[in-house]
Amino acid sequence: MGEAALVAYQAYQQTMRQFLALQEQVMKQFLSSTQPNQILPSGNVTVAPQHSFSNGKHNGNGAAPTTRYQAQPGNEIGEVLPPPAPEAPSVPPSPPASPAPEALLPDRASLTQTLLQLVSDRTGYPMEMLGLDQDIEAELGIDSIKRVEIFGALLKILPENLSARVQERIESFTEVKTLSGIVEQLLQSLRSSAPSASPNTANREEDRLGKSPDGVETIPRYVMQARTEPLPSRESIALTGLFLITEDQLSVAPYVAQALQQGGASTAIIASSVLLEPEKIAREIAELRQKYGSVSGIVHLAPLAVAPTLEKLSDWRKYTQIQSKSLFQMLQLCAEELQQAGQQQKSRVLAASLLGGYFGRDGCYGSGLPTGGSCNGLLKALAIEWSNVCAKAIDFDNSLSPADMAQQIIDELLCVGGRLEVGYSQGKRQIFDTVAAPLKTGVVQIEPNADWIVLLTGGARGITAEIANQLVIPGMTMVVVGRSPEPTQEPSEFNGIEDIAALRRVLLDRAKVQGLSATPVQIENKVQELLRDRSIRRNLENLKTAGARVEYWSVDVRSDREFGGLIDDIYSRYGRLDAVIHGAGIIEDKLIVNKSAASFDRVFDTKVDSTFILSRHLRPESLKLLVLFGSVAGRYGNRGQSDYAAANEVINRLAWQMDELWSNTRVVTINWGPWDTTGMASEEVKRQLKNQGIIPINLQAGCQFFVDELRYGRKGETEIVAGEGLWANYEQRS
Ligand SMILES: NC(=O)c1ccc[n+]([C@@H]2O[C@H](COP(=O)([O-])OP(=O)(O)OC[C@H]3O[C@@H](n4cnc5c(N)ncnc54)[C@H](OP(=O)(O)O)[C@@H]3O)[C@@H](O)[C@H]2O)c1
Repeated sequence: MGEAALVAYQAYQQTMRQFLALQEQVMKQFLSSTQPNQILPSGNVTVAPQHSFSNGKHNGNGAAPTTRYQAQPGNEIGEVLPPPAPEAPSVPPSPPASPAPEALLPDRASLTQTLLQLVSDRTGYPMEMLGLDQDIEAELGIDSIKRVEIFGALLKILPENLSARVQERIESFTEVKTLSGIVEQLLQSLRSSAPSASPNTANREEDRLGKSPDGVETIPRYVMQARTEPLPSRESIALTGLFLITEDQLSVAPYVAQALQQGGASTAIIASSVLLEPEKIAREIAELRQKYGSVSGIVHLAPLAVAPTLEKLSDWRKYTQIQSKSLFQMLQLCAEELQQAGQQQKSRVLAASLLGGYFGRDGCYGSGLPTGGSCNGLLKALAIEWSNVCAKAIDFDNSLSPADMAQQIIDELLCVGGRLEVGYSQGKRQIFDTVAAPLKTGVVQIEPNADWIVLLTGGARGITAEIANQLVIPGMTMVVVGRSPEPTQEPSEFNGIEDIAALRRVLLDRAKVQGLSATPVQIENKVQELLRDRSIRRNLENLKTAGARVEYWSVDVRSDREFGGLIDDIYSRYGRLDAVIHGAGIIEDKLIVNKSAASFDRVFDTKVDSTFILSRHLRPESLKLLVLFGSVAGRYGNRGQSDYAAANEVINRLAWQMDELWSNTRVVTINWGPWDTTGMASEEVKRQLKNQGIIPINLQAGCQFFVDELRYGRKGETEIVAGEGLWANYEQRS
């Protein structure tokens, strides 16, 4: 450590000691005035998950880098869950928290040091490699999720009153490009006047919803059930400002426009030809804004269109642009205005689809395209990211006239609340509940056997590889698809090195010897490549060892030529396909405002285009089973996953349609909760979800769930949720 850094670190330690002394004082005062059994959990009282996260798992790289501040007494008590069941021993109410002492403000040097240490801990790179003016994302490899993780750790280190000041301005940090910029912003936030004495809301949420983080042994299984519920009568708010309405084929848009104008809003109908091209959408919105002022609502009616027969991927893509992606693009363009209008409860985003009034469920897949279903997922993610914007996804059947449809749309627009996901079937308003549906394990429905030909996309890695390993029977043919080229032998210099830090060191040393200056991102990419190749090699080898005939194909599932071509080739070589497990998928989490169109496309197309290709190339006469891997992020929305949520909802809708049309095949989407020790869910995502009461899926239990679903699940059970979470809360929140 250099001398300047040492001085800075000592200053930081000194500040820390002062903070700790103050905290200790408060804690002592508190303990001396409280009975111990009032604050310590005992008996059946459940402890919130953050205990186990802070035991090293969440921090990933071991112990916290600096002395961690004691939590305020109020928080400590908050970690005890309020017992939900009446028979559970009650926890006495928290004593009033002692007022937090005004902590000393850390200086620039100590803050810089702390931040560098946190970044170093979370990226695994030594502090001296981390340039304060390097681009956080492009050069340091810190994505938005890791950024949140670092801020989370920082907020925990800071005393509560300082942490609350930073928390209040947390959104302002998302745009900052360098670590020095973050330090600057932090100093500004810390110097700002103290906020109203509200404790850290994130912690409160954790406290309220925290559950035992242990993996569940039997994964709960749920299905969606419709229930009639009239629109709640609420005082309606006059809607003003500019409402953008997208053109539909049923001519509902003019009626909606007329009604909104009568209520005092300005309206503009955006033509489908404009929706087809993002640049045109941007131009048109800019012109409309000039003419009518800022946008306070979007009514996306484009999915109200009778589905044409689509054979070509290029045609399908036109519809994903018009019906799905254009909504995302409009939201991005109007983000600021919509959120501003939301402050007066005047902001609305509504999307309508034509999937039978039940979003394609239960044999009523309607006459619209499944792409219309994307809005349901997208808006659920939006509702989490922009909590003051009222979002609704409304599905219709063909029973209503355009004028009546418009009336229902206006009624829903005027009413804040009453669920985000609503269907109108025969004019009756439906809402959807997640209800427990344990498998009936009596009669085997499908029995895999040795002569099966199975296609597994994404099957060389992650959860699909684990499931393949559980499914394999000697003699089975397993055609495995991934993006990566089939790995060759690992270079000997990496052989036997399991520890990631050691791998990084070898790569850094190699770069030094070669006189190359490598950024953390370059090294990290290489590490990930090595780990990915190892995992593919190991998983394919396992299947072979288990007696399967294994083929690995490096194919992009978004390409009709590559993926469709492979499916056709399987039919020509083997004459049939017995089961398909479609696990290929990616995530690139970013808030709606920060997500690039290219990233949205990558995430969305990987699931949506590939499922369309499957629907066109599979031959249902011989296919027994098609399993699509969806996610609770689609069903319930998730912060930073608007694209992923939208995509997962489309595949749910496609699954219903295929299951209905293919009488010999069971088609099912398993909407998985996060898996614990394998797959794409990062530690930070799992932490966030755990805080919302979502329990990660234990690996063995997840594999068993799949095998049971395959054997005992019935045709017609098409949209399954797998995993434990407070799903009803999500639905009511919507
Ligand atoms: N893990 C979870 O917690 C979780 C939760 C809910 C839902 N899911 C769903 O489960 C599925 C598997 O997830 P995972 O966690 O196992 O993911 P993962 O470990 O990241 O594996 C994803 C797999 O998909 C393949 N893939 C991605 N894009 C592709 C493309 N364009 N063409 C061909 N292959 C492609 C990858 O190939 P390469 O190996 O070559 O990169 C990889 O094999 C996904 O659909 C995901 O949405 C997972």
